Amino acid sequence: MGRLTGKYQVLCLLSLLFLHSPLSFSSFLSSNSQCSAQLQFNNSLSLNSSASPPFYGGGLDYIGLNTASWKEDKHCCSWDGVECDKNTGHVIGLDLSCSRLKGTIHSNSTLFLLRHLRTLNLAGNDFYPSLLSSEFGQFKSLTRLNLSNSRFAGQISHEISQLSSLVSLDLSYNHNLSIETPVWNNLTLLRELLLDWAHIILLLPSFQTLDLGFNPSLSVSLPKSNWSSSSLKLLDLSQIWFSEKLLDSIGNLKSLKYLTLSSCDFLGSIPTSLGNLTQITHLDLSANKEYLIGLLPSLLLNLPNLSTLRLGDNQLVGPLPNYVSGLNLTGLSLSPNFLNGTLSSWLFSLPSLVMLDISSNQFIGEIGEFESNSLEVLDLGYNKLQGSIPKSISRLVNLFSLSLSSNNLSIMLDFEIFSKFENLYDLDLSSNSVSINNNVTYTLPSLEWLQLAATNLEYLDLSNNSIYGQALRWLGDMGRDSLRFLDLSHNLLQCPFPTLNILRVQYIFVSNNKLTGEIPSLICNASSLEILDLSHSNLSGMVPKCLVHSNVLTVLDLRMNSFHGTILATFSMENNFRSINLNGNQLEGPLPQSLANCKDFEVLDIGNNKINGVFPYWLGSLQNLQVLVIRSNRFQGHIGNPKTKFPFPNLRIIDISNNQFNGPLPRKYFKHLNAMMSVDESEVGLHYVGAMSFGVGLHYKYYSDSVNVMLKGHDTNLVRILTIFTSIDFSNNRFTGEMPKIIGRLTSLKGLNFSHNNLTGYIPSSFGNLTNLESLDLSFNKLSGEIPNQLVNLQMLEVLKLSHNQLIGHIPLGKQFYTFNNDLYTENLGLCGFPLSRTCNNHVSKQPPPSTLQEEDNLEPENGFGWQAVLIGYGCGVIFGTLMGYLMFKIGKPKWIVRMVKLEQHIMLKRLKNNTHKRGGRK
Ligand SMILES: *[C@@H]1O[C@H](CO)[C@@H](O)[C@H](O)[C@H]1NC(C)=O
Ligand SMILES: *[C@@H]1O[C@H](CO)[C@@H](O)[C@H](O)[C@H]1NC(C)=O
Ligand SMILES: *[C@@H]1O[C@H](CO)[C@@H](O)[C@H](O)[C@H]1NC(C)=O
Ligand SMILES: *[C@@H]1O[C@H](CO)[C@@H](O)[C@H](O)[C@H]1NC(C)=O
Ligand SMILES: *[C@@H]1O[C@H](CO)[C@@H](O)[C@H](O)[C@H]1NC(C)=O
Ligand SMILES: *[C@@H]1O[C@H](CO)[C@@H](O)[C@H](O)[C@H]1NC(C)=O
Ligand SMILES: *[C@@H]1O[C@H](CO)[C@@H](O)[C@H](O)[C@H]1NC(C)=O
Repeated sequence: MGRLTGKYQVLCLLSLLFLHSPLSFSSFLSSNSQCSAQLQFNNSLSLNSSASPPFYGGGLDYIGLNTASWKEDKHCCSWDGVECDKNTGHVIGLDLSCSRLKGTIHSNSTLFLLRHLRTLNLAGNDFYPSLLSSEFGQFKSLTRLNLSNSRFAGQISHEISQLSSLVSLDLSYNHNLSIETPVWNNLTLLRELLLDWAHIILLLPSFQTLDLGFNPSLSVSLPKSNWSSSSLKLLDLSQIWFSEKLLDSIGNLKSLKYLTLSSCDFLGSIPTSLGNLTQITHLDLSANKEYLIGLLPSLLLNLPNLSTLRLGDNQLVGPLPNYVSGLNLTGLSLSPNFLNGTLSSWLFSLPSLVMLDISSNQFIGEIGEFESNSLEVLDLGYNKLQGSIPKSISRLVNLFSLSLSSNNLSIMLDFEIFSKFENLYDLDLSSNSVSINNNVTYTLPSLEWLQLAATNLEYLDLSNNSIYGQALRWLGDMGRDSLRFLDLSHNLLQCPFPTLNILRVQYIFVSNNKLTGEIPSLICNASSLEILDLSHSNLSGMVPKCLVHSNVLTVLDLRMNSFHGTILATFSMENNFRSINLNGNQLEGPLPQSLANCKDFEVLDIGNNKINGVFPYWLGSLQNLQVLVIRSNRFQGHIGNPKTKFPFPNLRIIDISNNQFNGPLPRKYFKHLNAMMSVDESEVGLHYVGAMSFGVGLHYKYYSDSVNVMLKGHDTNLVRILTIFTSIDFSNNRFTGEMPKIIGRLTSLKGLNFSHNNLTGYIPSSFGNLTNLESLDLSFNKLSGEIPNQLVNLQMLEVLKLSHNQLIGHIPLGKQFYTFNNDLYTENLGLCGFPLSRTCNNHVSKQPPPSTLQEEDNLEPENGFGWQAVLIGYGCGVIFGTLMGYLMFKIGKPKWIVRMVKLEQHIMLKRLKNNTHKRGGRK
């Protein structure tokens, strides 16, 4: 469906401009003198305004094509959708897609007189009950035939096999089309075959190439036997979902050279019969996620002609075979799987190996010594390897991507290792135990020489090691002019970034170090900088104005440092900021109104500073702002009414707690917080705010925002912010007056905190609509009246705090309320009933009594519910479970997504680059 909509939407919307009343199609077609023989489509086709497109479900208007141009007095070659050969005048192209045509195309249709057609597009009409008749076989010149979504039915005539010029055939979205085997025998030029939703049963013929890759909706069943006669050399069925066992019979395709069955969801283990495909050079069974299980058959590794083997993204277990004979692979990808044991020695002695990716397995032991220097891509990351880097690695002069990330390797970075890596493009040694030889006597004299090394380095990741000190100078010389990505976060560094030529750098991550002093003014030269993360260090001084003025920067994360001064710079109209996090510094003064120029803002966190002034109402115009945290500052005054019509339409988290706001709660703002109202979680999906992946070199890294919020009474770092998480925290201010009923409309709200204010009046019964609420804190106010019975509806509620108010009457009974501790009701002298010991004798209860006494007894703290272990005010429900739901605890780092396909692209890229260099040199 998705594939269709984009294209057709444009077509149909364009056509919308030329909307016509229903008219007879034939009158336009019958008597154009010059084209009469060719364009007499004069059977029962008609433009039918009520002809709804077969599978569109009404979402899209299907309006006719520009038939205004179909005038009899004009040459048909000037008609819309008609293309003629300039020399012969023959109609060679006909595009009637999306034209509300209705009717049957019989075999006597004059359509079939257009013998010279090269392209024919009838998609998106209603030709029921047309057959794909034998007449279609007469378009001998046809290269592209598109009959998708046009209600053709029945058996596809085998004459279609005469369309030997066909390059692209789209029969998708026609129900009940079936195809017989021989149809395919002749279509040797076919490059594109779209059969989505066609429910076509393909019986594999005896032809040589069958490439049906990337047809997730195609149903194909492989023959259970009788493949022996097949002369198939290439079989690509990638991304066709089989969800069946990959049968041994595949081993009968003895002529196969190229077999790709990736992302097919095949079940079971890898058939050992594949070991019989002695001709095979390329075997790809990757990404049959969670299905291809069991051991890696060593037979595969004895195939004499095998050159590339991809088995990644499966559930293979156990060790690699110890011994293989005659294996001469150029590429091997086994990532990720659950393979374990030590790395067999044959891995290191393959004479022509160019790519080796065995990352994300469970291999242990040491890395062996490489016998040849053919490797260009080496990824051993995310295993449990130990020891040091083998000496032979410095002989891998062709290496351009090296990842040893997330192992237990002890790596001493020194010149020895990197002196020869002139082609290195990516270097990822993160999450090991990397130290740098800071020996000054080496560093200075060798500087010049080092600049020669690794001059192509674009990506350097040494994060999560124990690199310390300041002497990172030589590091900067690696990739001095080429570096685009630098990640040194989670180390012990004292200087922000080495002396690299910062002009090209796009991404700098140096968070969680021991940086001191100011941000070097060097940073102002970084005209390509998109992400700067220097959070969690001891940096001080002012935030350089050039950062604020940048039109390139998207993420500025300086939180948890000691920056001071004001942010009184002007954000330009063209800025690209998506996220600014300055939490936990000493910044003061008001917030600049020019922040309203940050149209792409998703996250603004300036909490825990000394910023003053009024509520930044001007941010209300930011359509994409999802997270606004200004807690623990010196904001003051009334919030007042919004200055824009629909303020904060996308806000999901607002935390203005611990300031000096006063006056009434801003009712009119609550009215417009659309992102907190009845959001369909399944529609929003589990996304992270601002999560964006960006690629450098071979790697794709995730940056996602994290903020601290009060989550169920705890200051919690949301490492990643789920877009379904919504909360309002106005606590610890001086708000007065009543809580607006309208808050009851914010039905997606998970957390609501109005505690420690001076609020009066009743708890609105509309709060009972907040059925997603997990945490409600209204404590330390002057609320009066009874607790509305409707709160019993809040079945997700895990934290309820109502203490220190003036509430009276019976505590509601039922459901979640049985699980609350009585501490949450303290200092409300008028409350009575369970779980308080104070009974409601002299109060006429509106509530029904608990059904049985036993029920109440059973919930006594003593009987194993573990009240003591539960924090004050917490229900004993599923707190830890759902809490985890919002927190993606960082377990190491998000894995780089490295795919062999990418690697290949980069080998090409590199070669391209080299050629360019060479050509440049010759000039
Ligand atoms: C074309 O064939 C159909 C079905 O066989 C028939 O009903 C129709 O009359 C034919 N039209 C002409 C023009 O022969
Ligand atoms: C294959 O195409 C050629 C050229 O159009 C034609 O002559 C031949 O009959 C076709 N073969 C089959 C099996 O359809
Ligand atoms: C491989 O082929 C031989 C002979 O063709 C056959 O006997 C054997 O069963 C096949 N092996 C597998 C694992 O299918
Ligand atoms: C490897 O994995 C298999 C299957 O999961 C397990 O039985 C075996 O103990 C593991 N071996 C090692 C060395 O971890
Ligand atoms: C190994 O494969 C490479 C490239 O495919 C080829 O050039 C080389 O000759 C092969 N070596 C042997 C021993 O077969
Ligand atoms: C530093 O260099 C000196 C002199 O060359 C040498 O003796 C010492 O071992 C080196 N230290 C380290 C840690 O490499
Ligand atoms: C609440 O209002 C009273 C006066 O009505 C005042 O004394 C008190 O300081 C206020 N509390 C807060 C937290 O603003």
